[in-house]
Amino acid sequence: MKFTVKNPKQSLAKTDLLVVFGREGVAPKLPAGVRVPELALKAFEGTEREARLTDATAGPAARVLFVGVGEGKPVAAETLRRCGALAATKAEKVRAKSATLWIDLPLGKKAAVLGQALAEGAVMASYRLTDFQRDAEPAHLKRITLHGEPGFNAGIKRGLIIGEANCLTRRLQDTPGNLMRPCDLAIEAKKIASMSDRIAVRAIDEAAMKRLGMGSLLSVSRGSVEPAFLIHFVYKPKKTARRKVCLVGKGLTFDAGGISLKPSAKMADMKYDMSGGAAVLGVFRALVGLNPDVEVHGLVPTSENLPDGKANKPGDLVTAMNGLSIEILNTDAEGRLILADALAYAEKKIKPDAMIDLATLTGAVVMALGHELSAAMGNDRSLIDALVESGERTGEQVWPMPLLECHKKEMKGTVGDLRNISGPSAGAGSSTGGAFLSNFVGDIPWVHLDIAGSAWGAAERDYQGGPWGTGVGVRLLLDYLEQ
Ligand code: BES
Ligand code: ZN
Ligand code: ZN
Repeated sequence: MKFTVKNPKQSLAKTDLLVVFGREGVAPKLPAGVRVPELALKAFEGTEREARLTDATAGPAARVLFVGVGEGKPVAAETLRRCGALAATKAEKVRAKSATLWIDLPLGKKAAVLGQALAEGAVMASYRLTDFQRDAEPAHLKRITLHGEPGFNAGIKRGLIIGEANCLTRRLQDTPGNLMRPCDLAIEAKKIASMSDRIAVRAIDEAAMKRLGMGSLLSVSRGSVEPAFLIHFVYKPKKTARRKVCLVGKGLTFDAGGISLKPSAKMADMKYDMSGGAAVLGVFRALVGLNPDVEVHGLVPTSENLPDGKANKPGDLVTAMNGLSIEILNTDAEGRLILADALAYAEKKIKPDAMIDLATLTGAVVMALGHELSAAMGNDRSLIDALVESGERTGEQVWPMPLLECHKKEMKGTVGDLRNISGPSAGAGSSTGGAFLSNFVGDIPWVHLDIAGSAWGAAERDYQGGPWGTGVGVRLLLDYLEQ
């Protein structure tokens, strides 16, 4: 898709579909020269997400689509994100090759934020995965032109970059596990780094991980023929960095559970167990164009978790890079095993000012919060608060969960220092998962985001939803980095 940004004074070029956004109770203003039947204009009320299509009787557009943004003043970012998505979806549906979005709304101080939201919605809605279907029709919509005031347009440029990054993450998520293996994720990471002089990446291989003492991570990949990698991105800003932030994403390209095998019913969903890692790749894809003043490190421990003669067995003992030994009582609690070494590596080698991990860590979080929220827990209240606020701004909502001494106690081992699951009646599965991870972050301010619910299967929102990946984390973390 090609996007062009213009101001409202530039005249309207020929287009298959003109989209005019209108507020409730206010007759929408059409660009000069465009005419539509009087009845169509009268029938349009401007209620939120109302969409009314009509033929144009004069002007450079073949058809006109009115999209209502409701009565909010200024309109909410999420509303405009959804309206941007509606515009792109309807344009595709009527097989328009080109569409022009005409935004003449009172935006006030929030113009840039709203421009960003609208563009994000339009880009995210045009995501489709048809690479694997023989008879898939190619998309009709090839070009979107947006006309808005200068403040709004600055936001649009940001939104286009962020929307593209979200789509990249969703493509990585939705691609089947046999086509998105740990080595494929490493190749995708290298592609991203090659787009910018400010981004470097290294895929640390199993031999190097062995030298570093990553016995926990390596124990997971031992049960698969696919070797594990620890992908390490570094983004350095042009100016001296104000802060150094490290993002860590769980990259299990398939989680069968290992010897503690999962039931077959929903096992296919476990291709999504790399969603945290995919979000980290998405963030770096956006950093190519956004250039914030923060040094950003991205770590993606990536592996498969399969049953095999060499795989972890319940009761096995492994030792992580920070010297802590772990009894593996359930081989399906493998995410924490690979994250343990990634977090310990960050603490020892990167020493960031703040660290955030994203992981599809527990089924328990889906029970607790469903598919619309990510859980946040950690050792730093202000970092949790910052992420909750980013969640409110982006619509990728985050909810705090407890991580207390009682949860840490549950994870103490008998033979070793730690065990990878709690006692049978402890409950609080998400908190005990977070408590396990807390042993590997040292004194670094850290937040763990459990995205097992929010990473896929969310409610329909025009720009995402249904049985697909959501790309959760990309917009959230970019907002956090921007703040
Ligand atoms: N990848 C799963 C978590 C998961 C489950 C994500 C369902 C999305 C949907 C994780 O590796 C896992 O299996 N966790 C176990 C932990 C348990 C053994 C302590 C779980 O949640 O059952
Ligand atoms: Zn598992
Ligand atoms: Zn898993």
